[in-house]
Amino acid sequence: MASIQDIFKIASNDKLCPRFYRMQIDAPSIVKKILPGQFIHIRVSQGLEPFFRRPFSVYRAQKYVEIFYEPVGPGTKLMAKMNKGDTIDVLGPLGQPFALPPKGTKQVVMIAGGIGIAPFLILSDCLKKKKYDLILLYGGRTGGHVYPMKEFKDNGVKVLVATDDGSKGTKGRVIQLFSKVKMDPGTTFLYTCGPNPMMAAVQHFAGEHHLRGQAACEEVMACALGACLGCSIKTKSGYKTVCYDGPVFDLQEVIFH
Ligand SMILES: Cc1cc2nc3c(=O)[nH]c(=O)nc-3n(C[C@H](O)[C@H](O)[C@H](O)COP(=O)(O)OP(=O)(O)OC[C@H]3O[C@@H](n4cnc5c(N)ncnc54)[C@H](O)[C@@H]3O)c2cc1C
Ligand code: FES
Repeated sequence: MASIQDIFKIASNDKLCPRFYRMQIDAPSIVKKILPGQFIHIRVSQGLEPFFRRPFSVYRAQKYVEIFYEPVGPGTKLMAKMNKGDTIDVLGPLGQPFALPPKGTKQVVMIAGGIGIAPFLILSDCLKKKKYDLILLYGGRTGGHVYPMKEFKDNGVKVLVATDDGSKGTKGRVIQLFSKVKMDPGTTFLYTCGPNPMMAAVQHFAGEHHLRGQAACEEVMACALGACLGCSIKTKSGYKTVCYDGPVFDLQEVIFH
């Protein structure tokens, strides 16, 4: 599917909790094309720093293209200072979207670590229409990484939270939440996104319990068009680019490092 590259206006840019921001971009041409799991590539500055675009999962695509981000480095820190009415250079949609759950699926479990929650609101927007039981298992480092997740709940998603320090929800890693959900291999499908060690743990659990699923992977990117091979990762069928072959892969296909 052809991508669009253009300059768009920012409709809002709000801090949702101590760690996370949400930006709404007035890009109707991209809204029409985007599918859950795909991403956009943003040129944050007109100057030389940061030189490369930065990739962001699409959080929601209704009136606006929305992204959900954590200021961690120069690009995202610049983004956090942007205001309504400022413009931003966006390339997208890019990458392969999530596949729909296989036939026979009744329950969908989304497992997210930190900013890995980003692709799941748009996914729940899509899946709620298909009447699955939707569950989100979310793990954050601290309470500062937890926000109300109201739109998920409005979509009928049951949300369970864990934090490393126990300041919100269950104390421990997101994996600790697995025991709270009954997952039948014939009727449950998993989607996961987050740090590699977390996704490796999900992959291990899924393998042991014969659960199928998909993983949305992240890697540092330059071109995001499959040309530079800079975002290659190891999979069971050889090296694949996260930007072009992914970011969504079969959960058992990826060799997490
Ligand atoms: C497909 C995809 C979707 C993404 N979606 C989101 C999103 O929705 N919200 C969000 O906040 N971030 C997302 N990211 C990550 C984000 O693009 C990077 O963190 C980005 O580099 C931040 O830019 P920066 O200039 O602020 O920080 P940088 O200076 O680029 O990075 C800060 C630190 O993070 C490390 N880093 C950068 N990118 C990655 C990566 N992909 N994996 C592991 N470490 C990395 C760098 O090495 C550096 O140490 C996504 C990445 C990919 C590949
Ligand atoms: S970033 Fe260039 S191939 Fe993926």
